[in-house]
Amino acid sequence: MLEFKNVFKSFHNEEETIDVLKNISFRMETGEFVAIIGPSGSGKSTLLGVAAGLDKPDSGVVSLDGIDLTKQNESKLADIRADQIGFIFQNFQLLPGLNAIENVGIPLYLKSSLSEKEILAKAESILESVAMSHRATHFPKQLSGGEEQRIAIARSFVNDPKIIFADEPTANLDYKNSQTILDLLLYRNKKQGTTLVVVTHDPDVAKLADRVLEMKDGEIISDSKNKKSASTAKKSSQSKSSSQKTSTKPKQTSQGKKKVSR
Ligand SMILES: Nc1ncnc2c1ncn2[C@@H]1O[C@H](COP(=O)(O)OP(=O)(O)OP(=O)(O)O)[C@@H](O)[C@H]1O
Ligand SMILES: [Mg+2]
Repeated sequence: MLEFKNVFKSFHNEEETIDVLKNISFRMETGEFVAIIGPSGSGKSTLLGVAAGLDKPDSGVVSLDGIDLTKQNESKLADIRADQIGFIFQNFQLLPGLNAIENVGIPLYLKSSLSEKEILAKAESILESVAMSHRATHFPKQLSGGEEQRIAIARSFVNDPKIIFADEPTANLDYKNSQTILDLLLYRNKKQGTTLVVVTHDPDVAKLADRVLEMKDGEIISDSKNKKSASTAKKSSQSKSSSQKTSTKPKQTSQGKKKVSR
């Protein structure tokens, strides 16, 4: 269970203070799939970073299964993230000096007692699930934006986290690869009980969630439950069986090109 109580966060520069999170309170139950929507600059990525203990709020409580993340030191937070949290960054944040399979393995290198061989075997099986085995030894700069995104997604799965935060996980992907990734996220959520928090601009992704939080100017302006239609569930399971079998290279569409600058 993830809970925010009266969370505030501002950024300061020389000229101004930007209030990015203004008194945010909500509670998400274990196993929920929550979509966060809202205009650019409304605070979605900031909220996700605070929820995952990557960033500290100015005040308020952020608790994950009863542990207040705002009260933990960096080392404890790193342990919590390595054990319990998967995070897909909006700009991927792959390490440029590591190849694809090593990037996927990072959370395991950070936490576990697994041998190098075991880590690479686990990373390899996750890479396969996102249809990226054929790029295992490529470095991030040798990958397309959509491929980098799939590596970032694989990395978030590798430690079998109990909660996954995904910041626009399908933004750089073509339709087919978006479906594959959504199916993988949904599988984790529905079959493995992983709590899923997805920031998205895509109404079709938001429709798949149990619940949608809408942000505007640093506030949650609506919190609504989605009604699941039978057709949505059917469509999702159909696309799963077809997309998970494929390991073909994604089509390079205009959607598949890099959108972020690093
Ligand atoms: N490190 C920072 N320093 C200063 N301002 C920041 C910083 N990070 C974010 N901001 C500002 O906080 C506001 C919210 O940013 P945030 O990235 O959370 O928005 P967002 O809803 O994720 O937007 P988008 O949909 O474009 O990704 C923006 O106005 C942004 O410029
Ligand atoms: Mg963002």
